[in-house]
This record gives sequence, structure tokens and C-alpha cells, in this order.
Amino acid sequence: VAHLLWIGHLPTAAELAEFQKKLEANRNLPKSVVDVLRLLPPDTLPMDALRTGLSALGAIEQTAFAEAPDLDQAIAIAARFPAILADFFRLRAGKEPVTPKPGHNTAQSYLWQLLGTEPEERHWKPLETYLVLLADHGMNASTFTARVIASTQSDLVSALTGGVGALKGPLHGGAPSKVLDMLNEIGTADNVDNWLTQALDRGDRLMGFGHRVYKAEDPRAEILREMARTASDPDFFALSKTTEDRTLALLNERKPGRRLYTNVEFYSAAVLAAVGLPGDMFTPTFAVARSVGWSAHVLEQVSNNRLIRPQSQFVGPHDKKFVPIDQR
Ligand code: ACO
Repeated sequence: VAHLLWIGHLPTAAELAEFQKKLEANRNLPKSVVDVLRLLPPDTLPMDALRTGLSALGAIEQTAFAEAPDLDQAIAIAARFPAILADFFRLRAGKEPVTPKPGHNTAQSYLWQLLGTEPEERHWKPLETYLVLLADHGMNASTFTARVIASTQSDLVSALTGGVGALKGPLHGGAPSKVLDMLNEIGTADNVDNWLTQALDRGDRLMGFGHRVYKAEDPRAEILREMARTASDPDFFALSKTTEDRTLALLNERKPGRRLYTNVEFYSAAVLAAVGLPGDMFTPTFAVARSVGWSAHVLEQVSNNRLIRPQSQFVGPHDKKFVPIDQR
């Protein structure tokens, strides 16, 4: 799918093998990048570690990313996203990074680099589907950020580092760990209505619902729901489903006409938990998937570039006079 997004068609077997070779060659991080990650406090948010690791990579491998963004850079950085996260994940637990293994696909390699054990198919398969589903999604906030940065003729690492910053926020990619927190706080099916009513009375937004573009169910949510049904713990799935059903009913009652439906983040939580990832690795794993879409957009932007510079209208007073500091 990365090949499709970057080049425009699904790869032949030979093209896939070539791609795989290039990805594998980039899965080991330069030692100085690992050293930067080593310096971060263990309670650093993994999204902050990813942003820092990328930035360090851009500085340390300056020459590799100095030219205008191209396909080789996109491949290199797609392999670096999981490596940065996995190495940080191990370092914060007092463990050393593991050496990537040849022959792994991206999902297998990410789990191997995180956990240091051979990933089971029941874990890497759903993760692979998740990575495909979230690889790209039009002109969302983080993709727009990456394109704006690329449009200034800045470098690919800067563009993707900006994308990570935009994805981190809970109104965009930061929701799934909050979905897990919500489900853990709700705890049992008989507490669902009580918890949701209190949250809505406080004016809270319910994570995993609503979308700027979709005014119907996000089609990705449907696929993730079915994956969660088979991959996750049955009790956890039942609680998720009851919470989803009651949330939709309550939002419909409280916000009539707003057309609020389940978005991609709600069942991402159940799927990623079933894969064995802790909640604080959910948004970073979203970033692993989206890194491909971001760089595809950057390549498209630079292929026919024009500076993206929106206009804004100043609405403040126009007649202010400068007053020297000793007269204020
Ligand atoms: N829970 C409760 N109320 C909501 C929610 C929600 N999840 N989403 C929207 N609303 C309400 C708003 O309060 C608003 O009500 P009002 O008109 O009475 O003031 C109305 O619905 C419209 O909301 P907007 O903010 O105009 O909708 P917008 O398109 O800006 O928001 C967003 C989209 C940010 C995703 C929103 O639905 C939200 O905050 N959802 C929760 C966070 C979330 O799940 N984020 C992940 C998004 S998916 C992604 O980025 C990959």
C-alpha cells in the first residue's frame, strides 16, 4: 500500500522485494539517535519521543535528507518511525534496543523491535490491517501541516516532524488512548449510562465520536469493529459495543442534527490493545501508519510546488498608536 501511495500502483513481486530490501536497510537507527532517545526521561510521552527522535535523525543524518524529498527518503523514514518508537519503548523499560530481523514485514518488524519476541500471526495480522487502514486520509490536519512545511521547500524530516505534532492532539490522532481510559473508567456495562451522562453534563467530548468530514459512520470504524470483535477479549469488546451504542443514542438525543457517529479512533483502541500495545503507544502507532501518507503528500506537493500561504483577516482595532514604555 505504501508503494501504491508513493508510486501509484501496487507492486509486482519483484518491486515488493526491492522495497522490502530498502526498508530492511533502514530499520537500524544510527547510534547517536539511540543515544538521544536514551537521554529522555522514562515518563516522556512516546509521541514526544517520536518527535524528538525524528528531529535528532534530521540533524544527525543531515546529508541523507538535505536534498528535496524523494522516494528513497520516504522509504528510509517509513522504516525509522517504528524503529524510533520501539527503541524508546525498550529504553524506557531499562532494556536495550533489539536488532531488526530480515524477512519481517512492517507490522512484524515493529512488534519484534518493541517486544523482542517473534510476533504471533494473531497479533501482527490485525496490526498490518490497521497500518493499511490508517496510512492515508486526505487533507486531514497533520497531512495539511506536513504539506505546508514541504511547500516552503523545507526537508522531509521537518515536514513529518510537524505532522507528528499535529497528530498528537486529542481532536485528531490523540483520541484512542483516551478511549481506553474512558472504557477503563466505565469498567462495567451497568455503569455506562451513568458515566456517559456525567461526562456530557460536564460538556466533555466523548472520544472516538464525531468527525469533521464524515457525517455518517467512518467506514474504517466498521472494519475495526469487526477486527475488534474477533481479536479482543470478549468482555472488553462487549463493554466497547455497549458504550458505543449508548453514546450514539445519547449524542443523538443531546445534539440532534449534529450527525455524530463512531470515528476511526473508537475501535482502534480495542484492536491495538488486542495486539498487545499499551495505551500510550496507540497514537504513536497511528503515526507509524500515517508516516506513509504524509510522505506521499509531501512527494506530491514538491512535484508541483507552490507555497501554501492562507490569508487571514485582522479583526482587531486599526488605530492603535505606539506609546513609549515610560508613558504606559
Ligand atoms: N462528543 C460530544 N459532543 C461532540 C463530539 C463528541 N465527540 N463531537 C462533536 N460534538 C458536538 C460539539 O460539541 C458541537 O456541539 P454544539 O454545536 O452544540 O456546540 C457539535 O457536536 C459540532 O461539533 P464541532 O466541534 O463543530 O465538530 P468538528 O467537525 O469541529 O469536530 C471533532 C470534529 C474534532 C473530531 C469532534 O467530533 C471531536 O472533538 N471528537 C472527539 C475527539 C475525537 O474522537 N477525535 C478523533 C477524530 S478522528 C481523527 O482525527 C483521526
